[in-house]
Amino acid sequence: MSGYRRLDVRRGKPVQVTVDGEQIPAHQGETLAAALLAAGVDEFRRTRTGDPRAPLCHMGTCFECVLTVDGAPLTRACLTPVRDGMVVTREAGQS
Ligand code: FES
Repeated sequence: MSGYRRLDVRRGKPVQVTVDGEQIPAHQGETLAAALLAAGVDEFRRTRTGDPRAPLCHMGTCFECVLTVDGAPLTRACLTPVRDGMVVTREAGQS
């Protein structure tokens, strides 16, 4: 028997988020960044020079995770809770 104890993690109600026309699973209470990373999305945007970017700080300071969410550009995914029916577009050529 190990000295480790397994945490009892309960996820919220399942919701659907659409990213560039593709549905991904998510759970209430998660941030958009967490949901995308859990779904295997590892590129959130590209810079003007074409460099791929993804979340770095997960606390709203680096702006590496910006996406267009329900038509609102430059939304920080790490600060945005998911909700059912959310429509997300990845940014290209921003900063
Ligand atoms: S990951 Fe840094 S602002 Fe979102």
